[in-house]
Amino acid sequence: MCGIVAYLGDKEAQPLLLEGLRRLEYRGYDSSGMAVLNGKGLEVVKKVGRIQQLERALSGQPLHGTLGICHTRWATHGKATEINAHPHTDASGKLAIVHNGVIENYGTLKKKLSDKGFQFRTETDTEVLAFLIGFYFDTLNSETENRLEMAVMEALREVTGTYGLVAIHEDQPGVMVGARRGSPLVLGIGPHEHFLASDVSAVAAHTQTVAHLRDFDVVTIDRNGYRLKSLSQNQAGLEISQIEYQSGVAEMGDFPHFMLKEIFEQPVSIQNAVRGRLNLEESTAQLGGLNLNPQELREIDRIVITACGTALHAGMVGEYIIESLAHVPVEIEYASEFRLRNSPMDRRTLVIAVSQSGETEDTLGALREARRKGHRVLGICNNVASTLARETDGGVYMYAGPEVSVAATKSFTSQTIIFVLLGLLLGRMRFLSASQGRGIIEAIEALPDQITQVLKQSSHIRDIAKKYSHSHSMLFFGRQMQYGIALEGALKMKEISYIHAEGHPTAELKHGIIALVDEKTPSVFLCPKDGAYDKNINNLQQIKARKGPVIAVATEGNEEIVQHADDVIFIPEAPEYTAPILSVVALQLFAYHMAVILGKDVDKPRNLAKSVTVP
Ligand code: AGP
Ligand code: GLU
Repeated sequence: MCGIVAYLGDKEAQPLLLEGLRRLEYRGYDSSGMAVLNGKGLEVVKKVGRIQQLERALSGQPLHGTLGICHTRWATHGKATEINAHPHTDASGKLAIVHNGVIENYGTLKKKLSDKGFQFRTETDTEVLAFLIGFYFDTLNSETENRLEMAVMEALREVTGTYGLVAIHEDQPGVMVGARRGSPLVLGIGPHEHFLASDVSAVAAHTQTVAHLRDFDVVTIDRNGYRLKSLSQNQAGLEISQIEYQSGVAEMGDFPHFMLKEIFEQPVSIQNAVRGRLNLEESTAQLGGLNLNPQELREIDRIVITACGTALHAGMVGEYIIESLAHVPVEIEYASEFRLRNSPMDRRTLVIAVSQSGETEDTLGALREARRKGHRVLGICNNVASTLARETDGGVYMYAGPEVSVAATKSFTSQTIIFVLLGLLLGRMRFLSASQGRGIIEAIEALPDQITQVLKQSSHIRDIAKKYSHSHSMLFFGRQMQYGIALEGALKMKEISYIHAEGHPTAELKHGIIALVDEKTPSVFLCPKDGAYDKNINNLQQIKARKGPVIAVATEGNEEIVQHADDVIFIPEAPEYTAPILSVVALQLFAYHMAVILGKDVDKPRNLAKSVTVP
């Protein structure tokens, strides 16, 4: 799930490529590289680590040329080493490619080429593809006009898997060829220049005229323009659109990390998710982007929510919220499972795909599978220019602003509040009275101030984190709407502090997990005052009886909890459907402070990427 940028035009390529690459760093950051073609032939520079390493290398030894490709990698095949970094060259060293995706049959192709005497230098699937394209290039007559394009197409006919790729070759110095299947590739069209990139953010500063390649498209760009071919029967032209350019990258301001800044933005991001969507007169929500009329909304008799990671956890909370407010049965499915299983759904089942980036490959796979089966798919998404936004039948934007930190925070709370809005809308068409609707609206409107109350406890939460910073393992427990928060709290902890953490439904404790409890393993207990409170306290006692330290997240004013738990984080009193938004903020801060105390790279944790664009 790498980021690709390629440029062919009348300007020096290197600065444009680097600028684009920085905007794609969310897609991977274990190594990066660049190749340019100029009068001297093909020149390649690669570096392990962040894009700054590549920038540093190139500032000492710039690459000159007006045609170039570059890549930021998130390794799928082969370690994050310099040799495995992209661009990859072919056996002749004259062809270079950058690739996003996975060549699933690379083993077979590698054997075939090895049998012909080719010797590979890296462990990657991409190098095999470079060799295969190079092999076909060399079999074609040097006079062949479309030699690189033909070689790319020939090679791709043998490939199974996913790719967004760009190829260049020393012997066709004014040409670059891009192709797409499964991984996104966008063509940017400027007056005397063209770009290819994994997403529009990498080109938007230079051109607002873009076209999204479709699966099996092959685009060949030269000094005169571009030409489109397809590996499938579909020969339709590209749909060219104008995008909005938002200048500037997100700044950290006075915060030491993007994650902390984004945690503290939540009183505002929640308001942005709700703005214009509450109908006070009718005590309901209005979500015009759903593109469903009241009859269609009324007819929905089942909802399947599909997502990955943090977005999945928001969906788990959403499942409880919608079922409790609207009495519509909801199921939550890992997108990676849903896309492969044959989940029985009838024609009144609505599918909702949730994704901050709108580029998560598994989530896109799930939405495509649901649409292929003829289901209406809605999206809950932050990135309005994303593939998910384009491919869904409607949905709700989060308007949370850019989320830079790899660990998702504000997107989670925005997704959760959107589920409350959806529950309110569907509920008011079914069982909720106007006064119940008003109560929900009041709870929503109280949230920004309540989140601020939790944020004010940041230093108290830091002290608790310090106390437990020696821990090797932690347990997180929650019931009902807090169960998803237990999972999310544990995910945040492991993602950025690398402490082993597990989230469980509280009552499962006694069915096995309790074996892990000892003096050194803290348990985070989500026990706000709700219908499950008494049961939770019983479970908490079971941990205490085995000397396990307990950090409770409880409702303000609950004096009793202090006697049971070792440490307490209080959240304001809230109904069970908005309380998860408050408890998760406490756990986000807990994980954040833990990571800082342990000296970890908070915004770019090891092995991760902000957006996972490989299956
Ligand atoms: C969140 O902290 C994670 N980095 C990850 O689980 C993320 O939520 C997941 O990959 C889904 O991303 P999306 O919302 O962009 O689809
Ligand atoms: N499979 C390629 C590699 O490991 C590309 C990975 C990706 O797109 O994330 O280098």
